[in-house]
Amino acid sequence: MNTREISLKIIEKLFHGYTLESITENLCDFQRLSKKDKAFVKMLILTFLRRNGEVDFVIKRFVKKPLKEKDEKLKNILRIGITQILFLEVSDHAATFTTVEITKKHYFGLQSFVNAVLRNVCRNKLVLVKTLDPTINLPRWVTEHIYSDIKININDIANSICKVPLLDIHFKKKQLMNMKYVKDLKGKNIFNNILRIKHTGSIENIPRFQNGDWWIQSISASIPCIIIEKIFNLERKKIDILEIGSAPGGKTIQLCNAGFQVTAIEKSPERTCKLRENLKRMKFRPKILNMDILKNDIKKLYDCALIDAPCSASGIIQKKPEILIQEKNIHSLLKSQQKIIEKTSKLIKKNGIMIYAVCSLIYEEGEGQINNFLKKNDKFIKVNLKNIITDLDCLNKDGNIIMSPLNYKKSGGVDGFFISCLKNIR
Ligand SMILES: C[S@@+](CC[C@H](N)C(=O)[O-])C[C@H]1O[C@@H](n2cnc3c(N)ncnc32)[C@H](O)[C@@H]1O
Repeated sequence: MNTREISLKIIEKLFHGYTLESITENLCDFQRLSKKDKAFVKMLILTFLRRNGEVDFVIKRFVKKPLKEKDEKLKNILRIGITQILFLEVSDHAATFTTVEITKKHYFGLQSFVNAVLRNVCRNKLVLVKTLDPTINLPRWVTEHIYSDIKININDIANSICKVPLLDIHFKKKQLMNMKYVKDLKGKNIFNNILRIKHTGSIENIPRFQNGDWWIQSISASIPCIIIEKIFNLERKKIDILEIGSAPGGKTIQLCNAGFQVTAIEKSPERTCKLRENLKRMKFRPKILNMDILKNDIKKLYDCALIDAPCSASGIIQKKPEILIQEKNIHSLLKSQQKIIEKTSKLIKKNGIMIYAVCSLIYEEGEGQINNFLKKNDKFIKVNLKNIITDLDCLNKDGNIIMSPLNYKKSGGVDGFFISCLKNIR
């Protein structure tokens, strides 16, 4: 099977809800490809996902008779051809020829139709690339529910999603950043111990991965633990922290690295394995519990709980663009978040802290959840994060922190995140 046929298979599976990572890991045809071909397939798929709305707009415009539901494969074939013509450095001839070849295999007789559509797209390429609107790549569940302060810059958000993301690597110790291999990575230290690099291959190939000098963590994802570090600055060894939703372990590692006592809870068995693996590599040994916080009784009370809740992941679309084409059951996510907050609130000592974070820019998953909780629970008050985190480029909203691609824009922007901090006063 060639790269375009494998791409077709992957796109079909993505529309059935599988993640790109799970598809590529399990698809033998993909695994058999050379390194170079794998990179091409990934680039083709990721570009289609990032540009899905624009690509489908072009299909609608250049295919006179609307395609029927049963012609989904034909639509996917056109998607592959159009993505290459408009957004990748593939010659028009190669993009058209390879797409026509796959058409012959699956829809013998329709190859001249596909050829005509693609040649028409090639002729109009310059105008299309200039005039297409990237906001149409965003699904309605994002555009309609995004924070209004961010919605006004929806063009910037949409443009950021079209770009290949940079990779943030978090170093255990600042002095490690002075080593020679770090210089070879040609990264930029834009925040604390985080180095931002250009890297699209496997992370295992980055030097000193196995040594545990660093872990993958975005700037935004590091903020909840920085808040904890600032609040509990002294005697960290005595501070008991409960972390809910821990895998793959970015925040667990950060808390252990800061010297706290951590109990990490994770519901998914597979993700718990990943969590254990990452902690072992980083040489930390917190208590790890593979359990559903909602189905288990925990007797102990904690100084601090960190909820990194399951969410729509609308803040990290640039890294996981398959989110753009998949249905999200927001209602069930909102229910889980609400239940997790309520359950966790019962596990905090008097004067203890509960941090709630989601990698989402949807109001209902962030600020909406916290406002609803505070309305019903007068034991808790909000801690104004503006007074705690003072040196961060972020949006401070009603004492909460919202990070988005509009922050650290000159350095490539950051993931979307909502963070709130509550204190148990009784
Ligand atoms: C956003 S991810 C966590 C990311 C992680 N904290 C990090 O920094 O690397 C949310 C995690 O919560 C887990 N989760 C979802 N519902 C849960 C529950 N009821 N109890 C425990 N974990 C849960 C999910 O399996 C998922 O791994």
